[in-house]
Amino acid sequence: MDVFKAVRLTENVYWVGAIDWAVRDFHGYSTRRGTTYNAYLILSEKITLIDTVKESFFEEMMMRISSVTDPSGIDIIVSNHSELDHTGSLRQTIAAVKPEKVYASPMGSRALAAHFHWEDDPIEVVKTGDSIDLGNMRISFIETRMLHWPDSMVSYLQEEKILFSQDGFGMHLASAERFDDELELTLLEAEARKYYANILMPFSPLVTALLGNLGKMELEIDLLCPDHGPVWRSNIDWILEKWGSWAEKKPRPKAVVIYDTMWNSTRKMGEAVLEGLSLEGVSSILMPLRASHISDIATEVLDASALIVGSPTINGRIFPSVAECMNYLGGLKPKNLVGAAFGSYGWSGEAVKELNDLLEGMKVELVSEGLRAVYVPDEQVLEESVNLGRSVGRRILEICGGLE
Ligand code: FEO
Repeated sequence: MDVFKAVRLTENVYWVGAIDWAVRDFHGYSTRRGTTYNAYLILSEKITLIDTVKESFFEEMMMRISSVTDPSGIDIIVSNHSELDHTGSLRQTIAAVKPEKVYASPMGSRALAAHFHWEDDPIEVVKTGDSIDLGNMRISFIETRMLHWPDSMVSYLQEEKILFSQDGFGMHLASAERFDDELELTLLEAEARKYYANILMPFSPLVTALLGNLGKMELEIDLLCPDHGPVWRSNIDWILEKWGSWAEKKPRPKAVVIYDTMWNSTRKMGEAVLEGLSLEGVSSILMPLRASHISDIATEVLDASALIVGSPTINGRIFPSVAECMNYLGGLKPKNLVGAAFGSYGWSGEAVKELNDLLEGMKVELVSEGLRAVYVPDEQVLEESVNLGRSVGRRILEICGGLE
């Protein structure tokens, strides 16, 4: 018995993806609620499959397809994005269904060739503005380079007003529900925000440009179908606006304090810094690195105005976990941040300077030269830590024009 069935989205379009309930680490991103790999089947005259799934979920996708049509009847495959969570089973799918055509963007064609090292390259290239005839429908393409890979593109099914947006507007969320309005909006916001922070944040200017272009094109969108998470049918404007605000990153009075500690001295300083921020009325969160995943830290940084980092000095350097986190955050290029560094040391104390350099490398405006404690912070150092928090808090309020 085929356990897995397709889910009907419209009269002619079905979800035929897979639900990965167990994944908890998606190339370093903590996927606490699992994910889905969405593929879509269009039962047009030329039957068309939009994207495939991660290699290990090939059978699940094929069962879902088989529940509505014979897979060997698929005429066209469109690959919107070459990352392996959507193309890991592409070679098997091509072998199983023998489509007439497989389409990808120009960069997608190159990326797929570099992944699969085809003996006989099956990919035909489509560019922005191209469309293909599905018999009784047409599907058109818009390249979305670097959102979030060079190959990325989206596909628009005109007759059904469906935008297949690959990773765009997605989230890592395994659920039995397929539509946004079957799930709590607070859950969708939390997971969409985390996805944006960890996957799209470095490309925010391109997101702003894309949203502008979609607006100018005046595409009517009745369904927004990403490659992860639920299909948007009731909250399309909401998720587009969320992406717009995350990309713009308007300053808001919020600070993120991260630290690691060896003997609790840097922890005590961090807690005092947080008290100072709170005294200024700024929303703030303290994220000990031993208890906070870097992908959750990135999520908090997305809409923060300040990043304050604490590290002890070990062997003349910052603590390894702090280095890992700063490396990750630096790659995500968070914008419009002020910040500061603090930390305990025994005899050399290089960590604060190293952190200052890293923060400046991220274009973070330093509010202070940093604060160091020799071994264990005394009353004076703790008071200075509170004052460091207050200084950052006041700078945030200047930038934001007050509290929200
Ligand atoms: Fe879901 Fe960029 O792959």
